[in-house]
Amino acid sequence: ERGRLLFAAPVDFLKGVVAMSGLPPADRLEVCFAGRSNVGKSSLINALTNRKNLARASNTPGRTQEINYFTTQDGPYLVDLPGYGFAQAPVAVVAKWQALLKSYLSGRATLRRVFVLIDSRHGIKAVDDEILTLLDRSAVTFQVVLTKLDKINLKDREKVIEQVKTALQKHPAAYPEIVITSSEKGEGIETLRAIIANLE
Ligand code: GTP
Ligand code: MG
Repeated sequence: ERGRLLFAAPVDFLKGVVAMSGLPPADRLEVCFAGRSNVGKSSLINALTNRKNLARASNTPGRTQEINYFTTQDGPYLVDLPGYGFAQAPVAVVAKWQALLKSYLSGRATLRRVFVLIDSRHGIKAVDDEILTLLDRSAVTFQVVLTKLDKINLKDREKVIEQVKTALQKHPAAYPEIVITSSEKGEGIETLRAIIANLE
């Protein structure tokens, strides 16, 4: 119910941030969406907010290159992050935004939860594990969100859930519940809205 209400009100783009000094005042909670390039972060924000192009999604890995802030009515900021791992952008540019990403993930006091998106076809990879370890060290709670479930069958679904659960055992900052989603089909979107709306 709280989730439905929070996302029934308009969500607006606030700003794109390219340096830690550009972050908005830490005057409310925030949640962010992290994950490898192309995993579906921007698409998930669009699905949550019921908007086609609020966050820009594309088939080109490395589409999101800034930390993008969105405001909810009386709720947390929603933060769309650049992807990590392979991106179709110059090496120096990627290095700069990866450094920003790491500073942000380890140094934002009001960051209440990091949703780490994992492509259900690929499971947790070494680059994901590196980010999860960074979050463990900074004691920032993260929750795994499996994406693109419409692309796999039921048997593979069970397999990837098992792989993720096993991988999470060695991460003290992991929130144990995994969220299963498809931005395409709307699966899990209501669940995720409720999780965000109920954070304190
Ligand atoms: P970067 O900003 O480059 O890091 O990517 P991103 O994680 O924001 O991914 P984005 O939302 O741009 O989506 C990447 C591609 O995956 C797009 O072509 C989307 O249409 C597609 N996609 C995202 N979510 C889903 C999903 O649930 N199902 C399917 N079938 N495709 C999806
Ligand atoms: Mg994106």
